[in-house]
Amino acid sequence: MIKVDISKIQGFIPCNAIKALEQEIKDSILMLEKGNGAGNDFIGWMNLASGMDAGLLDSIEDAARVLRDNCEVVIVAGIGGSYLGSRAVIEALSNSFGQLIQDSKNPQILFAGHNISEDYLYELTEYIKGKKFGVINISKSGTTTETALAFRLLKKQCEDQRGKDVARKVIVAITDAKRGAARVCADKEGYRSFIIPDNVGGRFSVLTPVGLLPIAVAGFDIRQLVKGAADMEARTTSKVAYADNPAAIYAAARNALYRSGKKIEILVNFQPKLHYLSEWWKQLYGESEGKENKGIFPASVDFSTDLHSMGQWIQEGERTIFETVISVEKVQHSVLVPSDDENLDGLNFLAGKHVDEVNKMAELGTQLAHVDGGVPNIRITIPELSEYWIGQLIYMFEKACGISGYVLGVNPFNQPGVEAYKKNMFALLNKPGYEEESKAILARIGK
Ligand code: PA5
Repeated sequence: MIKVDISKIQGFIPCNAIKALEQEIKDSILMLEKGNGAGNDFIGWMNLASGMDAGLLDSIEDAARVLRDNCEVVIVAGIGGSYLGSRAVIEALSNSFGQLIQDSKNPQILFAGHNISEDYLYELTEYIKGKKFGVINISKSGTTTETALAFRLLKKQCEDQRGKDVARKVIVAITDAKRGAARVCADKEGYRSFIIPDNVGGRFSVLTPVGLLPIAVAGFDIRQLVKGAADMEARTTSKVAYADNPAAIYAAARNALYRSGKKIEILVNFQPKLHYLSEWWKQLYGESEGKENKGIFPASVDFSTDLHSMGQWIQEGERTIFETVISVEKVQHSVLVPSDDENLDGLNFLAGKHVDEVNKMAELGTQLAHVDGGVPNIRITIPELSEYWIGQLIYMFEKACGISGYVLGVNPFNQPGVEAYKKNMFALLNKPGYEEESKAILARIGK
């Protein structure tokens, strides 16, 4: 079972705070279930797993097979919710050195379309020169500049390098059913395509083809991922008692801490494979809660690595933070600390122990030190890094995010603030249709 331990936040919140939030949390869950809360046209993610169409899974697996059979490298082009979910799952489940291992079974998965770096795009296009590569082009709007720009380059290179007929086979589009440039292009070129449901926003889309196709291409079991999510869906409904609902308790704990002045939540892992899960989580919570001048700021660290960089701040900096630790109970491999006759490093006291035992003591020692230092600690335990448990964790975070947003009093399913930079960038680049904004912005910067 995934467990949420909030015993180490006591003392930082009023003693009845979790109980006092019970009704608000229950009301929020009911709003999600009845679909009568803000943003209710974007709650399709709630039942994606339990309502998964078996035909869709077959079709995703078939598309994955075509890419796996015809590509050494598959590039996932997407940004924000259109790439972070798949990257989080793929990195959590992959060999740490997977990118360096020539593995004939699995194509290398690379990501693009999530930045506007000329050097990144140059180095990527150089790397895939002469390689059999394919592209999964993911954009719900079909108009996102970062993704469209990368796709323009990759499409041309794929057609030039592999010929139009093969390119048609190894380029897949995941986009809106009717609207947007990615849809028009896919239909015109005859690409295989998948639809992002209208009622699922980008950051909640990992259990749609957006996440599932890249994960399947990487060789992971998407059925287990979906099963895990469906099982967590059942564990987090309004029928489950408050104290037994991990999403409810996590949402209650973080809101109680926020109301007690803890404005920053740091997601902590002790497994570097979880780095991108934190990136996905930051988008999920950041875009859902950060509005109307409210919201917990989501941050993340990889321990024990970052104990040697951020540890000082966390131990003794401004006391506005709390930590949520994802603790993985069972690791996949076994490495024992060897004994050494000379014992120059003084580590013989660890000889014969598993490295993970040392890691777990670092985790416990850190928790105790940080709580002593005034940092409340929520601990989420996951049995192991497998498709099934990652599926559970993803759904738990999504559900808790929807609940938290409602408790905070915002619409957790929109992201109006994301448009501001785009408007300025288009005006500065003289995009047709932005003439008025161009004039205004040039005057503002004195040009
Ligand atoms: O969560 C969101 O809605 C955003 O992060 C989007 O996923 C991101 O901006 C990419 O948008 P699109 O899929 O339309 O290219």
